[in-house]
Amino acid sequence: MTISTLPHPKIDAQLTKNLINNKWVDSIHGRTFETINPATGEVICKVAQADAIDVDRAVEAARTAFTTGDWSKLSPRDRGRLLYKLADLMETHQEELAQLETLDNGKPITESRTIDLPLAIACYRYYAGWADKMHGKTIPVDGSFFSYTRHEPIGVVGQIIPWNFPLLMQAWKLAPALAMGNTVVLKPATQTPLSALRVGELILEAGFPPGAVNILPGSGSVVGTAIARHPDIDKVAFTGSTEVGHRILEAAAQTNLKRVTLELGGKSPNIVLADADLDAAIEGAHFGLFLNQGQCCTAGSRLFVQKSCYEEFISRSIERAKNRIVGDPFDPKTEQGAQVSQTQFNRIMHYIESGMREGAQLRYGGNRVGDRGFFIQPTIFSDVRDNMTIAREEIFGPVMSIIPFETIEEVVQRANATQYGLAAAVWTRDITKAHAIAHRLQAGTVWINCYDALDPAAPFGGFKQSGIGRELGEYGLHEYTEVKTVTVKLS
Ligand code: TAP
Repeated sequence: MTISTLPHPKIDAQLTKNLINNKWVDSIHGRTFETINPATGEVICKVAQADAIDVDRAVEAARTAFTTGDWSKLSPRDRGRLLYKLADLMETHQEELAQLETLDNGKPITESRTIDLPLAIACYRYYAGWADKMHGKTIPVDGSFFSYTRHEPIGVVGQIIPWNFPLLMQAWKLAPALAMGNTVVLKPATQTPLSALRVGELILEAGFPPGAVNILPGSGSVVGTAIARHPDIDKVAFTGSTEVGHRILEAAAQTNLKRVTLELGGKSPNIVLADADLDAAIEGAHFGLFLNQGQCCTAGSRLFVQKSCYEEFISRSIERAKNRIVGDPFDPKTEQGAQVSQTQFNRIMHYIESGMREGAQLRYGGNRVGDRGFFIQPTIFSDVRDNMTIAREEIFGPVMSIIPFETIEEVVQRANATQYGLAAAVWTRDITKAHAIAHRLQAGTVWINCYDALDPAAPFGGFKQSGIGRELGEYGLHEYTEVKTVTVKLS
């Protein structure tokens, strides 16, 4: 496989530093870490590795901005204007940001251009519009009183984001927090710090006042833990694994009871009934699993297919997987790029081995592609049983498990028999049946005859151990406000 080295965006000096109080700084201890190009395994550049003491500095700046700094004096409408400006700047630099995302993450450039960037920009615009529309209520209390509510910002918010959709996850976190008037200390994932830092440059260009947004690349165990434990951080918003989600909740409980929202993993059921439009369902299931190299929290990784169309579905899914173009992330024709890291590559290969060991039928793929970088074939297992490891644990890779079922009653029960509850989908031509199933599925999002249809206006989040709280939409805003009741005696 040929991996192109051009065109790549220029990595300027700022992209290797921390952003604190609108200044680009090295970490106090001067340590750095390497960020790797997943397509080649080569080092792109070294980035300043923040430490707990840098978190203290950033929190101090964010606290000052929140209480007395210029940020605290901005009207909601002016906060909206800044967010609109940031969205416009991102649009101006859309191609450069898409290239940076592909370089650092390994995802196909076509996806960066058509999914990550447009959705991230739309998210900033959506919440820019909300900045001056968060109304309180007047409350009809008993007696001679006038009671009303105000929705106030929470304060300093720590945000910890993953590597699978770096720009998009940054937008989902920053936009609602800033729209509501909070200040932020954000930690990108060590695998993918570059696009977050480039957005930091655009935040300065847009004119955000000092301390409103601070960006600290560094490891989860140090910077992430310091954010979760910090006594002067009022809320933590986290996206990542369920295991780390537990740790964040524990840290919040042991320190200052900071507010916590968590968007964690999933093992989403994608249910295809025999009366579905099979062409659409096969393509939708392919997209819903292999998108982003399978590294999606929503991945439809338990693909339940009704018995009467099971064999046809498998053979046609294999044909589709065979045609999937795996290769150079910078080639516009590429559909599947590299897994994000050697660690993630190893984890996925381990799951593929476990599928074979536990008796699932490997029908396609299962091998690495090329001899450098972290590429894996689109992989399809059939005859997967519910108790197998690949049917229970989040793989976060291009591994499809096709599971047979007979009745709707049975599949609803099996779909819900998991600790997770992030997303689900149903494919059928019978819309009444689709709604009935959707209402019974324990998932924060249910798609009918589509998959991964995401929009900044539609709330997103998990039931059960897939998370706490919601992102996006009006619901997502409430996670960034405190409700204050003001009561006035009238006589
Ligand atoms: P995580 O460890 O959960 O990483 C997600 C983010 O949390 C990263 O920024 C990470 O920092 C940080 N983090 C790690 N340990 C932390 C701690 N103790 N306290 C606070 N923050 C911490 O995920 P991973 O290791 O990259 O991937 C492992 C698995 O998690 C994947 O295979 C997948 O199943 C799942 N995952 C889910 C999602 C979504 S969207 N739900 C996203 C990524 C991964 P560093 O990486 O910089 O150390």
